[in-house]
Amino acid sequence: MLKRYLLAPGPTPVPPEVLLAMARPMFHHRAPEFDKVFAEVRDGLKWLFQTKNNVLVLAASGTGGMEGSVSNFLSPGDKALTINGGKFGERWTKLCKTFGAEVTEIKVEWGRAVDPQTVADALKKDPGIKAVYVQASETSTGVAHDVKALAEIVKPYGETILVVDAITALGVFDIKTDEWGIDVVITGSQKALMLPPGLAFVSVSDKAWQLAEKVKNTAFYFNFKKEHENQQKNQTAYTPAVSLIVGLQEVLKMMKAEGLEGVFGRQALLAKAMREGVQGAGLALFPKESPSDALTAISAPEGVDGQAIYKNLRVQYGMTAAGGQDHLKGKIFRVSHMGYMDRFDIIMAVAAIEMVLKGLGHPVKLGSGVAKAQEILMAK
Ligand SMILES: Cc1ncc(COP(=O)(O)O)c(C=O)c1O
Repeated sequence: MLKRYLLAPGPTPVPPEVLLAMARPMFHHRAPEFDKVFAEVRDGLKWLFQTKNNVLVLAASGTGGMEGSVSNFLSPGDKALTINGGKFGERWTKLCKTFGAEVTEIKVEWGRAVDPQTVADALKKDPGIKAVYVQASETSTGVAHDVKALAEIVKPYGETILVVDAITALGVFDIKTDEWGIDVVITGSQKALMLPPGLAFVSVSDKAWQLAEKVKNTAFYFNFKKEHENQQKNQTAYTPAVSLIVGLQEVLKMMKAEGLEGVFGRQALLAKAMREGVQGAGLALFPKESPSDALTAISAPEGVDGQAIYKNLRVQYGMTAAGGQDHLKGKIFRVSHMGYMDRFDIIMAVAAIEMVLKGLGHPVKLGSGVAKAQEILMAK
């Protein structure tokens, strides 16, 4: 038998109490039972997103939330600014182009965070830009962009919104949606929300709704205004993913019991232990700055194939992490610590990485990274 461990940056492990909740017999989404669950969940999402705004719940993967955040706020020919520092930033550019927007793209070297000044300069040069699109945590590189600084830059532009893909950020580190003035925040169920894939969530500010009013929205399924009208009445426009919403009710209970600060503190501690642990084992982090607390992107040592590390973790030790994408394939591997994770998940991951590296003939002192991670985790 090979026991399986899921340390990929989504889907992430689902807690047993959430799995049990989702095993409840099905009930109908137009029955009062659903209204009650959905009302509680909608309230909890406002708490989690730190917003007074409605958080739309969509039956989709995260990309569905991203797509809707383009099609509902931009008409063909509208100007968009996208920040592309990795695979998911690139997706913003592709989506905006798909919907006919005129795109200015700020390219950021993979492994670096965007310099907020470049966004300030772009907006100054073209105040007609309707929306700025960015990731809070760029999962392909393991880097966090400073969305607080970006919100300050965008705020004075009365007709420009900031759209943040927080798919691997929300529920990992602090994102003060209203206080910082982020107009649209998106996440998905299969990351820090500890659920199976299938739900996307989008919070929308008043400023963004005003923009949506002016847009010739051609979307049918991801029609935010239609969902907004329905969801304020604790209903959805179309059949919702009932079981996932029941699971979310349980997730929100767990997160509330820990508290936002507790969740962010735990995630930060695990991230620090993972970073220090792998460095203790002689490895280098891929991000050159601002590492995300959701996952750690690790450079494969000279002469070792990053894909072999990722593959051996899974095949030899049952641990699913992730490889590198595009030009980083073979150069890095990525280990997630977001969501349902605790201290021994980190110890296990660092130990397995050391074992795989040694197995691949790389000189590593077994236990060196584990010891470093243990020190960090004990110092709590
Ligand atoms: C930052 C980020 N954005 C977008 C996505 C796409 O989400 P999905 O695969 O749920 O459509 C992911 C998925 O890994 C992600 O990490």
